[in-house]
Amino acid sequence: MRCREAAGSAGRAAKRAGHRSLWGRGGTRPLRGYFERTYGTGRLPQCQAVRVAGPFIKRRERPAAGSIPDVLQMFVAEVRFYREIAPVVGVRVPACLLAEVNAGATLLVLEDLSDWEAGADAAGVARVLANLHAGWTGIAPARWPWLRTPDVASELVGALFDQTWPGVAGRPECTPAVRALGGRLFGHIPAVERTAARAGPTTLVHGDASLPNVRSSSTGEIALLDWEDVGAAPGVADLAWLLVSSIDPTHWDETVAAYGSAAGLGDALPAAASQGILSLADTPPGSDQATNWVRRLEEAARRMR
Ligand SMILES: Nc1ncnc2c1ncn2[C@@H]1O[C@H](COP(=O)(O)OP(=O)(O)OP(=O)(O)O)[C@@H](O)[C@H]1O
Ligand SMILES: [Mg+2]
Repeated sequence: MRCREAAGSAGRAAKRAGHRSLWGRGGTRPLRGYFERTYGTGRLPQCQAVRVAGPFIKRRERPAAGSIPDVLQMFVAEVRFYREIAPVVGVRVPACLLAEVNAGATLLVLEDLSDWEAGADAAGVARVLANLHAGWTGIAPARWPWLRTPDVASELVGALFDQTWPGVAGRPECTPAVRALGGRLFGHIPAVERTAARAGPTTLVHGDASLPNVRSSSTGEIALLDWEDVGAAPGVADLAWLLVSSIDPTHWDETVAAYGSAAGLGDALPAAASQGILSLADTPPGSDQATNWVRRLEEAARRMR
């Protein structure tokens, strides 16, 4: 593979296209207990002591040389996120007690948010993303030059998509609209990714802002988890993926309204839809999951026109 660094979308693509074996062993698990931790809040240089539940351990073995996580340096990027960005990021993320790389293997010891509810209200997540993006527009790439940019992995994603699409096109739940969408993307992913990369001003993006990577507290606080796909890209790419990955089309308008602007969404949606098609490929045929992906992909196709 010729890529040195690449977009969050490529990492997502690898995950969604069943490349989990590339991840090596490792995993995530909560432990019991409480830890005192001092950490920075927001972008101000102040610190506050917090009581941290946990820890939640996330461990990744060194990815196989040449594998997608290796090429994308995904696990190391998450460690760097917790070390360098999380203390100032300005949105709620798990507090980090330890973030280490050892001979390519990574270890994160995080605040355990297991007793928070999985997922969150879509509009709330959109507002959190809007804050994240607003805070780092024009700043993120210079401050953290190691952040992946969107265009670099486009050929990698394109190869994956072109290899996966024929199987998806042949699935019974694939409607004419989704078949047309996939046909339009097939062979064009690098161009689609380039368009998404120009969809708006570059900022800090989560890269995999789907509801499974979000948890909410009993008081309505929303935390963003899973920063393996963190990058520097137009913020609207996170919004597009939130919609395509997780939000029923009946709630897209209110989610976009909560984000505050639909600018660039039409340009970001095709790339997000290509990721959605890879995700659809991973679902059991005939499942509700598959049907829901198709519904969201149809909505994406409608808004791309
Ligand atoms: N700090 C945490 N506290 C509680 N639960 C967590 C925490 N971090 C992650 N999780 C849970 O573990 C799941 C997997 O973690 P994470 O998303 O970071 O890893 P992943 O391997 O990238 O998983 P996936 O591919 O499923 O997104 C999350 O979806 C979330 O439910
Ligand atoms: Mg995850």
